[in-house]
Amino acid sequence: MEDTIVYKVIDYVEHDLDWEKEECNKVGIHFEAYQLKFASQEEVIEKCRDADFLCVDMTPITEQIFEGLDNAKVLIRHGIGYDKVDVNAATKHGIIFANQARAFRQDVAEHAIMLIFATYRKLMLLNKFFNDSVRLGNWSYHDIYPVYRLGEKNLGIIGAGNIGSLVIRKLKSFGFHLLVCDPYKPKEELEELGVEHTPLDEVLEKSDIVSLHVPVTDETRGFIDYEKLSLMKESAILINTARGQVVKTLDLTKALKKGIIAGAGLDVHEGEPPPEEYGFAGMDNVICTPHFAWYSEEGGWEIRHMIIDDLRAFLDGKPPRHIINTEVLQSPQLRMKISV
Ligand SMILES: NC(=O)c1ccc[n+]([C@@H]2O[C@H](COP(=O)([O-])OP(=O)(O)OC[C@H]3O[C@@H](n4cnc5c(N)ncnc54)[C@H](O)[C@@H]3O)[C@@H](O)[C@H]2O)c1
Repeated sequence: MEDTIVYKVIDYVEHDLDWEKEECNKVGIHFEAYQLKFASQEEVIEKCRDADFLCVDMTPITEQIFEGLDNAKVLIRHGIGYDKVDVNAATKHGIIFANQARAFRQDVAEHAIMLIFATYRKLMLLNKFFNDSVRLGNWSYHDIYPVYRLGEKNLGIIGAGNIGSLVIRKLKSFGFHLLVCDPYKPKEELEELGVEHTPLDEVLEKSDIVSLHVPVTDETRGFIDYEKLSLMKESAILINTARGQVVKTLDLTKALKKGIIAGAGLDVHEGEPPPEEYGFAGMDNVICTPHFAWYSEEGGWEIRHMIIDDLRAFLDGKPPRHIINTEVLQSPQLRMKISV
């Protein structure tokens, strides 16, 4: 099997990867798929040591793993965020690391919008009220009040990249006043969206709804803490479909319990799975979904095609489309032979 290209999937969320296997068979690639999300680093290395091309979903890929991957030339992330991958270690070992930057944005934007409406309109409480009270003939709405209209409210978007800007575009016709914080987005691109950059504290202070769409960086890790939550209106809600690590969970629980803010819609969580003491169980003003914003049948198939397209490019000596560690291309350690 010495000259055969080996493609290994480290972990996956699909029912099966029969389609990928067939695609690989067609071009003579040896394909194997594992579920190593909770495996030891040693096991990941043992299973994947001989792979030329790899794909990972949620398994943490550490320096030790990169070091143990004897043949790896390319690692692809099945998704966008890559906070579980030691990108510097990939570069050090000459391995190209790429994500699928254009995947899922429709789906995450739709999910964020669902959480905005459901949380602000108190869907959980209404559902509970219907099941517990209305069926017993109690139509007194006093336990539900107040519910506010969404139109004309201030919608704060933190991070106006692929997903944040799509949320803005999709919500334009609802009559929100938009407050956008993204100091890194070029002014012209913000202008194209019809918005301008507003400092973080001002967005938090003025918004009725704050939706997070930033990556985890040294700057954003835990940046929504008690102090920042305390800037928000008591009637405001926080939506997070970005990454759990950008919000300090214990601070958010405290803020919700003390009525510092009114509610939260969370698709992503500081621990996934969250620890037992995760404080939101039974809170009717919090909607939690299981890091599912990315998913739709359409999005699920789009990304499968995108990854196989990157694999086909690899066979032609071409790098993947969305390289994160672009500096590796200039590195003498680069393991992939790129055809010009
Ligand atoms: N829940 C899910 O299933 C799911 C799926 C895909 C992506 N995501 C997450 O969504 C987030 C956004 O993804 P994207 O594709 O829009 O990314 P992106 O890189 O296109 O956009 C991120 C934006 O955040 C801005 N930003 C960075 N630091 C900032 C800061 N300190 N303050 C304000 N803005 C800042 C950047 O300038 C950029 O415009 C990521 O965290 C990603 O991991 C979640």
